[in-house]
Amino acid sequence: MVERGTIGDMLSLPSLLAARLEAVAGVDPELRPATKPQFGHFQSNVALRLAKDAGRPPREVAQEIVASVQLDDLCEPLEIAGPGFINIRIKASVLAQVATEVLDDPAAGIEADPTAARVVLDYSSPNVAKQMHVGHLRTTIIGDCFNRVLTARGEDVLPQNHVGDWGRQFGMLIEQVLDENLDLGGLDLAGAELLYRRANDRLKADEAFADRARARVVALQAGDAETRAIWTRLIDISKAGFNASYARLNVLLRDEHIAGESMYNAMLGDVCDDLESRGIATVDDGALVVFVDGFEAPAILRNRHGGYGYDVTDVASIKYRVSALAADRLIYVTDARQSHHFQLAFAVARKAGYLPDSVSAEHVGYGMVLGTDGRPFATREGTAYPLEDLLDVAEQEAAPEIALAAIKYADLSNQLQKDYVFDAARMTKTTGDTGPYLQYAHARAARILRNAAEAGIEFSAVTVLAEPAEQTLALQLTKLGEVVAEVAQNLQPHKLCTYLYETATAMSVFYEQCPVLKAEGEVRSSRLALCAATKKVLATGLDLLGIEAPDRM
Ligand code: ARG
Repeated sequence: MVERGTIGDMLSLPSLLAARLEAVAGVDPELRPATKPQFGHFQSNVALRLAKDAGRPPREVAQEIVASVQLDDLCEPLEIAGPGFINIRIKASVLAQVATEVLDDPAAGIEADPTAARVVLDYSSPNVAKQMHVGHLRTTIIGDCFNRVLTARGEDVLPQNHVGDWGRQFGMLIEQVLDENLDLGGLDLAGAELLYRRANDRLKADEAFADRARARVVALQAGDAETRAIWTRLIDISKAGFNASYARLNVLLRDEHIAGESMYNAMLGDVCDDLESRGIATVDDGALVVFVDGFEAPAILRNRHGGYGYDVTDVASIKYRVSALAADRLIYVTDARQSHHFQLAFAVARKAGYLPDSVSAEHVGYGMVLGTDGRPFATREGTAYPLEDLLDVAEQEAAPEIALAAIKYADLSNQLQKDYVFDAARMTKTTGDTGPYLQYAHARAARILRNAAEAGIEFSAVTVLAEPAEQTLALQLTKLGEVVAEVAQNLQPHKLCTYLYETATAMSVFYEQCPVLKAEGEVRSSRLALCAATKKVLATGLDLLGIEAPDRM
């Protein structure tokens, strides 16, 4: 018997089993979960594969492996089934011990990356003087999940909120403020957006206004004091609006993570000079561009009027993040339509030597949010739907905490690249594969523990695990660390969602088949401990998705 808390490695029980089998078989045993409880917990077809190569009877090969592998501390005697499958059943005592370790520290299996890479994570990134809209909902939720998962893994995560706070639109905005003699003190973000629309309408209709707007951009670039002051005010108003949305979404973004487009403005000239002098950029029809193999059109660093755009800003952002922020990994989260922009920016940066091979760069593109009619979510006027209004829609169906869980889970539980349908009534259901269902499973465990406490029933460890449903649940609890490691690597949050859904399902099968409070003695306290461990795993996993786990619902 191993002492409590000393197993450690067993939190990844499957990898331990696989390693021991591989030591004997010489190849990866490719462990699979057993298809039925009577076959044990895992199965391997390694003997069949080896026998085929060697032209030998598979059962004979299986017998040899079973005879020499060292697993008796962890498993019941191995069994050979059918043509030569090896069936593995973990000892109930071992499962109990591992479940107890989860109870003591549910996150113990997660923090496994000792290298602590610095990850620069670009997400949310709304635009000044515009309310966040439905498109920014996804980047904010997905980026927040990556932030939590990578941080839990011990990575050093640096969020960068690449706010759109620079560009030609500020000419018309500032000119409109001056024309209207507008008191910016009374303006909020919704008001700023109306200002934006008024300025935009005017720009199209009024030639003289358009000229003044252009001159105003030059004044902003040149640092004119009055112009700068209005620009700064517009940014502050926008920031306050963004922060209100972040608070409502319960995400980790703070002011110190803002690194807007304007920040790179001063670097753009140097980037152009550098690339031109090294012959990487060339002048093409008056514009400074970079051609990259595999891309039809070049990246435009500077247009023929001398203006800078989105491409060069991101080349500069990559350079800055690698050299000044010492990033080992760059992640950008935007809608999938920007995929080409980022692939091109990465390619230019690689060619320029700004992005060495040792630093990975990933663009995570996500699909659209659709209405129940299957069409992109939009207002009646056909403009992008404001994020705050979308949250209101969900809150008509459920309390804020639950509505938010519903939205986040709906966003994260499918492959990110796919569009998803924002169906508030379905998403907020407490049955099926939804966020509220997981919250409910957590609250259900909390209720059992509350009832036990009220009755004065104590427990401290998982000790008896005789029933298959108990064993399945205990085994499931040990997999959290592996799943989180996979999400950190592949940036696919739906794998964590699936895991939590399976955990909640295993828990409800356990309740159906194993009475908890009605059991007695050691069985009862062991089952209570298993409930407590499950509750912790659900809460830990939900937290990594950015979802709260209330004790009562
Ligand atoms: N502001 C842009 C938008 O609203 C997203 C910026 C993404 N980040 C970046 N480094 N380009 O679509």
